[in-house]
Amino acid sequence: MSSKETREILKESKRYLVQQKDLFGNIIYNDSDMNTTNIIQNNIQTSDEPWAAADSIEALNHSINKCLKCGLGNSRTNFVFGVGNPNADVMFVGEAPGADEDAQGEPFVGRAGQLLNKILAAIEFKREDVYICNILKCRPPGNRDPQPSEMELCTPYLYKQISLIQPKFIICLGRIAAQWLLQTNATLGSLRGKIHNYRGTKLIVTYHPAALLRNPNWKYPAWDDMKMFREEYNKIK
Ligand code: URA
Repeated sequence: MSSKETREILKESKRYLVQQKDLFGNIIYNDSDMNTTNIIQNNIQTSDEPWAAADSIEALNHSINKCLKCGLGNSRTNFVFGVGNPNADVMFVGEAPGADEDAQGEPFVGRAGQLLNKILAAIEFKREDVYICNILKCRPPGNRDPQPSEMELCTPYLYKQISLIQPKFIICLGRIAAQWLLQTNATLGSLRGKIHNYRGTKLIVTYHPAALLRNPNWKYPAWDDMKMFREEYNKIK
């Protein structure tokens, strides 16, 4: 193995371990006895930053929405925390706010958001029933991809959101959210179409609505993903 490959592996391992620490504190977990309630809740309390003690979604928003941990804090118009039912069974996680979301302070309000609303309606959910947020809370300039350093700094907030909401399903919209949460470089094509176990929570990967706007042929497999989700959801209802 070349030293470049070794460095890459070490970098990836570090990223993975940092995410695990954000999620689980110093607990070394064992997948078999994992569930979101007892694991994720344990962890964030181990962070000594004030927001980690927030006991509600509103309190969390209040404690982080002036965040300047990464450079995006200086260029944003609004911090885009998340929207929806704080007790939702289903949490949708996108990539990062775009121009419309940055302007309005709410995720998925632009064209991609209109399509997401239609997808929700097709599976008999309203926007208010679910919780919608992003990997990043601030808009990357020019809608570029989030950088790993930005995701590392920002995703502890997402993990805390997950721990407060305790959804039964997480639906990753697009490659960036899926790869980050599942800590993999696998392609979106290989991640969709199945139910992943994300620390005891069912996680489904599907196309980002913006990708569906660019490539309408993907609407067919995206619809398969949503039907699969609805069938699984019906089983718990
Ligand atoms: N794309 C995203 O990933 N998130 C948004 O909030 C809007 C567009």
